[in-house]
Amino acid sequence: MKVREITPAVGAEISDLDINLMTGGEFDGVVEAWDNHGGLLFRNQNLSNEAFVAFASRFGELEAAPVMENGRTPVPGYPEIYVVSNVIGSDGKPIGSLGAGEAVWHTDMSYLENPPDASMLYALELPPAGGDTWLAGMSAAYEGLPDDLKDKISGKRIKHDGTFNSGGFRRAGVEVREDPRESVGAYHPIVCAHPRTGRPALYLGRRRLAYVEGLELPESEALLDELWEHATKSEFVFAHKWRVGDLLVWDNRATLHRRDPFDAEARRIMHRTQIKGATAPNAVCTQNI
Ligand code: OGA
Ligand code: MN
Repeated sequence: MKVREITPAVGAEISDLDINLMTGGEFDGVVEAWDNHGGLLFRNQNLSNEAFVAFASRFGELEAAPVMENGRTPVPGYPEIYVVSNVIGSDGKPIGSLGAGEAVWHTDMSYLENPPDASMLYALELPPAGGDTWLAGMSAAYEGLPDDLKDKISGKRIKHDGTFNSGGFRRAGVEVREDPRESVGAYHPIVCAHPRTGRPALYLGRRRLAYVEGLELPESEALLDELWEHATKSEFVFAHKWRVGDLLVWDNRATLHRRDPFDAEARRIMHRTQIKGATAPNAVCTQNI
């Protein structure tokens, strides 16, 4: 098994590893690379649904497929595998969620008190162009913050909105409130120490309807704009161009991700699993770093 850094800020490619034949020692190496790089890419995998669930479970307890804009869309018989797709099934209903549009920068489900630690996508069918998934490294982004911005966010929390998902779709059953102080969501510290490595990282969630606790709304908007512009600079990100058989794993505590749009007439089918949050970000946050 080989580990190759994709960018200094985020991402490593694991090669010469068939997940179906992985040893315990190799898995230890995978976890070490994950702690160091925040996101992992495995190419040329051939995972059955059972093998995908078994691999994902080694990272922690799995969550059932979340409720998305089309409700729950698990793979029949596999409640922990959720389908991310724009394809319409033979019953006329979408087989998955997130459509074909852009998914804006985000971490998964940070509007919860205990957001998922990690998520992974496995590519089954891909459009001829578009649909790249981007990762951004939030430890590097924290470390690269100018001192004045570090001071401005020290000890502060962001409210993470739960109204819209990353595809811009309203979550089933949630009322839209245009004032971020009134919408549904959870507060988390802006700078969190990673529970495994202790490394501080920016924890931003998503931009839409976010709010910095205690500030006037215009001040909060300005600070968030400044933070988001910094965190998504080209030096902290890379775009993953998918091939069928790729598996991409990301640590929600150390990265942001987004997806490019693609032709809605083309087909994209990804299987996804999500690891439960073992701790709330609050519990591991370092104030006043
Ligand atoms: C997700 C997600 C992006 C993609 O599954 O959480 O943001 O590339 N997906 O489909
Ligand atoms: Mn996501």
